[in-house]
Amino acid sequence: MSSNTERSLVLVKPDAVRRGLLGEILSRFERKGLVIEALELRTMDAELADRHYAEHVDKAFYPPLKAFMTSGPLAAVVLSGDQVIDVVRAMIGATDGRKAAAGTIRGDLALSNRENLVHASDSPDSAKRELALWFPNL
Ligand code: TYD
Ligand code: MG
Repeated sequence: MSSNTERSLVLVKPDAVRRGLLGEILSRFERKGLVIEALELRTMDAELADRHYAEHVDKAFYPPLKAFMTSGPLAAVVLSGDQVIDVVRAMIGATDGRKAAAGTIRGDLALSNRENLVHASDSPDSAKRELALWFPNL
């Protein structure tokens, strides 16, 4: 497979920060060989939540998702590396922590379809959009 250095926008969500899992999760990305280009503790406000999750705002699960995502500090992270977008999606596992494979972050550490520890860009287009939203000066 060809080499293709990219950037991805990762959010280590408020449940992870509350549970003391920020170090564990960042450590997994570092041990994989990915590079932390930017890292900031932020609390999402309602407007940023609506923009970040634009594709989901009309869904039934969105109001409780928004309440959760704005409930406390999260870590906004820019990761870079070879094919980092797909690599990180594989590392975090399926959305529902109860179904995510063992060995993935959600599979090992989450038991919820909402409080699932991590967000990661899912395509080059979403990475571009999300990086501009969270780190406009990068
Ligand atoms: P989605 O983009 O489908 O998942 P992913 O984070 O794996 O890209 O959904 C965004 C977030 O919305 C998901 O991380 C958790 C939440 N969510 C729910 O609370 N209930 C649901 O039924 C789904 C599909 C998602
Ligand atoms: Mg998604």
